[in-house]
Amino acid sequence: MKLAPSLLSADFGRLAEEVKRVEGVVDYLHLDVMDGHFVPNLTFGPTVANALRRHTWLPFDIHLMIDRPAIYAPQFKVGPADVITFHVEAHDPPEEAIRTIRGLGCQVGISLRPGTAMEAVLPYLDRVDLVLVMSVEPGFGGQAFNPEAVDRIRRLQGELRGRPVVIAVDGGIGPENVRQVVEAGAELVVAGSAIFAQPDPRAAALALWKAAGYTRGS
Ligand code: DX5
Ligand code: ZN
Repeated sequence: MKLAPSLLSADFGRLAEEVKRVEGVVDYLHLDVMDGHFVPNLTFGPTVANALRRHTWLPFDIHLMIDRPAIYAPQFKVGPADVITFHVEAHDPPEEAIRTIRGLGCQVGISLRPGTAMEAVLPYLDRVDLVLVMSVEPGFGGQAFNPEAVDRIRRLQGELRGRPVVIAVDGGIGPENVRQVVEAGAELVVAGSAIFAQPDPRAAALALWKAAGYTRGS
């Protein structure tokens, strides 16, 4: 398992400090980029993400909840360890988003809303490094986990047929359900409120590892 805390639940006025609190016990930083069109919420974009880049060695897991991933992805400063994930339901054709993100030299992820049929992402499994299964409707942190995600992860695992594609899960994950999603096949777990909304994010991350059945992160 790899763990990616979502900054959406962090204190936006002290992002660099928030990140320092979890270094060493998590594997990625999950950055939720929202444009107010694809989802009814606005967060931050490349300016904030690139500024944060100078404050941590953690790889970035950039979740683009935006209509035009092919237009905005190139504005993020990324390297081979970082991931940029776009939504299959976005306005830009998935082929174009994949080509653009691949051209940046980072890993490519594709995501789908809970209501989108799994078939929508299957044609792209040979061209992506990661599939992000949403277990809540994208747009807001702190929503309840949709248990249908567990079956979707299991199904996706079967569809991969040995391809080296990471299954990630995002939304409503906490100590009560993390083991379930990992056992179903999720390798990268995103958690927002279960980490950064807790009084001690470091202890909260360690609690997630424990609940997943691991003694320590990595
Ligand atoms: C939702 C975001 C998630 C969110 C997760 O649109 O994609 O990454 O921050 O937050 P929790 O873990 O609180 O559901
Ligand atoms: Zn996310």
